[in-house]
Parts: sequence; C-alpha cells; structure tokens
Amino acid sequence: MAKKILEVKNIKKYFPLQTNFFGKTQSWVRAVDDVSLYIEEGKTLGIVGESGCGKTTLGRTILRLHEPTGGHIYFDGKDITNISKKSLRKIRPQMQIIFQDPYSSLSPRMPVGEIIGEAVRVHKIVPKEEYKDYILDVMKKCGLQTHYFERYPHEFSGGQRQRICIARALALNPRLVICDEPVSALDVSIQAQIINLLKDLQKDFGFSYMFISHDLSVEEHISDNVGGMYLGSLVESGPKEKIFSNPMHPYTKALFSAVPVPDPNVKMKRIILKGDIPSPANPPKGCKFHTRCKECMDICKEITPFFNEYEPGHFCACHLYAQNHEALNNYMVLKNYLSGYKATQEKIDQIKSLTDKKLSSYDSLMVKMFIIDEKVEIYLKGRASDITEFNAKYLVNSAKVIKERKFSRVPIKFKVENEGDLSAAKDLIDTLMSANGYLKTATNEVTYTFTSSDDNERRSGSVLSIKPLIIDSEINKRKEAAEALKEKKV
Ligand SMILES: Nc1ncnc2c1ncn2[C@@H]1O[C@H](COP(=O)(O)OP(=O)(O)OP(=O)(O)O)[C@@H](O)[C@H]1O
Ligand code: SF4
Ligand SMILES: [Mg+2]
Repeated sequence: MAKKILEVKNIKKYFPLQTNFFGKTQSWVRAVDDVSLYIEEGKTLGIVGESGCGKTTLGRTILRLHEPTGGHIYFDGKDITNISKKSLRKIRPQMQIIFQDPYSSLSPRMPVGEIIGEAVRVHKIVPKEEYKDYILDVMKKCGLQTHYFERYPHEFSGGQRQRICIARALALNPRLVICDEPVSALDVSIQAQIINLLKDLQKDFGFSYMFISHDLSVEEHISDNVGGMYLGSLVESGPKEKIFSNPMHPYTKALFSAVPVPDPNVKMKRIILKGDIPSPANPPKGCKFHTRCKECMDICKEITPFFNEYEPGHFCACHLYAQNHEALNNYMVLKNYLSGYKATQEKIDQIKSLTDKKLSSYDSLMVKMFIIDEKVEIYLKGRASDITEFNAKYLVNSAKVIKERKFSRVPIKFKVENEGDLSAAKDLIDTLMSANGYLKTATNEVTYTFTSSDDNERRSGSVLSIKPLIIDSEINKRKEAAEALKEKKV
C-alpha cells in the first residue's frame, strides 16, 4: 500500500442546534458522525451521498476549517487534530480546497494574477524575483492564457473561473486537495475539461484528492477509491471497481443502481429508496439506514453496525455481512436475558451447539456468549487485530448492559484465544481493561484466559501474558478480601 497522506479516525462534527434558558446546548446536528477513512499519496478518494449527508462538512473538518467535535486527523502521519493555529498555518499550503461555486470564491476586486499569487507570496513559496514567472507558469499549466494575469474574475466564464481556483490551489504546491463538487456548476463539456485537467495535474505532480460529488459518472472517471455517506456516516468504502460493480451496503446498492450502463443489452434494475432522509439532528437508533432499508432485521434497529473490512480495502457497515452475525444474535440474547427476558431453551441450545470451525481469512473471528447455568461466558477466537476492532466493542457493550442491569452477581468469563501476532492485541487488552472497569464489583467473578497460537510470542512474554496477571492479581485480592470478610462474620 502506498503511503497514507491523510488518515481520519472516528471524526465527528456536531453543530449546536438548540440551547436552553442558561445557554447550554441541548441538541446537535450530527453533520459528520464517526467517520474513518484514509487517502493514499497520489490517489483520489471519491465521496458520494445524498444532499445534506455531510460531505462538505467532512471536507471542511478534515482541513480544520471546522473544529472537529471528536476523533483524530492525521496528515502525513502527524496528528493535526489539536495543533495550534500557528502550526496549522505552516501546513495550510499543503492542504487545499476547491469549492463548488467558482463565482463566490473569487474576490471580484482582485486581478487574476493577484488571486493566484496572494498566498504564494504570504507563504514565500518562491523567491520574490521568480514570483511572476512562477504564477504565469502555473496559469499555463491550468490552461489559462498568460495575458489573463491583469484581468478580473467577472471577465471569465464559469469553466475559466474554476481553472483560476485550481491554479490558486496548485500554486501552493499542495499534497492534498479537497475538491468539493468542483464541476457541478459547469456544463458537461467543461466538466470533462476540468476533470481531465485535475487528472493530468495529479499525474504530473502526484497530488492526492478527496473528490466530493453527486455525479457518480464523474466519480467513476476520477476516483481510485469511493466512499458512500449516509446521514453523516460512511457506510461503505473501497476500490472504485468493487464499489461500482459489486456494492455491498443496501444504501450504496441503491445509489449505484442509478448509474447508466452503456450497453443496450444490460437491463438496468434501479432501486428506488422509499421514505425521507431522517434528520441528522435526530438520527435513527441502531443502523441509521434502517428506516429505509428493505433488508432491515431486528438487530439493525438496536445496534449500530461497525465499519468492517471485508476484503482488503473494502469496508462496509452492515449487519448483513458481519461474520459474527451469530455473535450479534448472541449479544441480543444476552441483552434480553439480562433485561429479565429469558431466552428460549431452543435459542440457548442453538448457541451452545455452535461448533468451532477452521477459520479462513474472511471468517477470521468468532465471538460466543454462552449463558450456561446462570453464567455468562464470553469466548473470542481470532486474530487479535480483528478482535480488537470489532468484537471487543461488543464485549464492552455487554459489560455496560450487565452493569446497567445491576447483574453484579453474574459470573463472567472471558476466554480469548488469539491467532497470530500478539503485539496487535494491545488495544484488546485496553478494551478488556475498560470492560473490567464496568464489571468490577465485589461479587463479580471475572476471569480471563489468553492463549496464543504463536509459540515465539508466548515465549517472549508479550503484553498478553503480563497484563492479565495484573487483572488476575486484582481479582485474587478481591477474593481474599471477600473471604476474610466471610471469616470475620463467621
Ligand atoms: N454551519 C452549520 N451549522 C449548522 N448546521 C450545519 C452547518 N453546516 C452544515 N450543517 C448541516 O449539516 C448537515 C450536512 O451538511 P453538508 O453541507 O455537509 O451536506 P452535503 O452532503 O455537503 O450536502 P450537499 O450535497 O447539498 O452539498 C446538513 O444537515 C446541514 O444542514
Ligand atoms: S445494518 Fe440492517 S438496516 Fe442497516 S443497511 Fe444493513 S441490513 Fe439494512
Ligand atoms: Mg456540500
């Protein structure tokens, strides 16, 4: 994989909506809600989605034109989420944005040369004596004649103005350019010219783009990877070929069913989505798409699906594909059980009878929650990184439920069977520790068993074999204290 120029982890941007009498915010518009993505150097990530789904807010938050509400932004490997305005100004030339509307983004009182060159001068991109030649060169590269230098924006057509905007961004020698619907205000032939210009510049200078557009055929032309957004969240992302020819998520399936196919023998099966887009101020619980999804299951109304990687680089957030579908069901059973509803014997038998299978790469993990004789046994098996990313969150969720329901006397047993690299399990340990935080009560018996298929790791005494000891010793201390108390009473 090429180097990641941008990586975004769990980014959120909430706008305050309502305040109470004391000025405290009571509700928020969740314009961007827990988005994770990356862009490789020299590549283009297309972002598609219905109007209002948060594309522009995502782009602006990445550039910190909006301050993120949560999450992390890494540019060229450096965390820029909280860096000062001064440090941000230094890297600003490397991250540029091109807006949809070339009319309002150009100052009408400045000549074109000055518009393109202003930031070049401020950031001292070239020595003073080379300044004019540099700007003329950039103009030529963007298909603008050099005698336009002294002319004003109102003397140009829409396509030419967008070229001026591109030249302004390019002149700063950026590494990442966020293009927010840069061609949607232009007619089709000009659109093609601008797209080709962006592609040529990418080839010559190695820029990376995040390309936001409504127009899927434009995305198909320019993008290497594509991400589909719904109500502030990314529901699917992956290589363009996969997303266009074989989308996984029911929302992206509907979106891409509308792309015309240039083959008269292919019958288009357009999926029409029913229902209105819910308000981002009050998104549906569970999977945000469940109110419009034909495939909706019970679990979708309760639990937000994780954004899982199903093939290299192909991510999707949908319960339909979760390998551990059975784990989710188990989780539901556990949840119902703990809220006073007894799972049917049949269901419990079904869970008990799940047999261990040989794990393939796509079927690489397994979570089981046994409820046997009033005991909860949570069993995870798989690669540590998969366990970390996906299942440990369910673990913490179940721990929360247990805590909420004050089921403090339920003995809980975590059995973690790890395949492969133990160093990747650090996060898992942290998650278990946090679950432990929820579970700690004087009477809870929480045990952990960690094993590894990797003998070398085991011998070298990795994190796994150290941290559980700490947990065990804590538990032992508690046990001793409880026994001492018992003896005292006796
Ligand atoms: N500054 C703001 N204050 C409050 N709400 C905002 C603000 N900016 C955007 N929003 C809300 O955030 C949501 C996402 O808006 P955004 O402009 O990012 O959508 P978009 O996907 O770019 O839409 P479009 O395709 O129409 O450009 C919308 O509900 C919008 O009303
Ligand atoms: S999680 Fe459920 S509701 Fe959401 S897209 Fe998948 S099937 Fe539909
Ligand atoms: Mg927008």
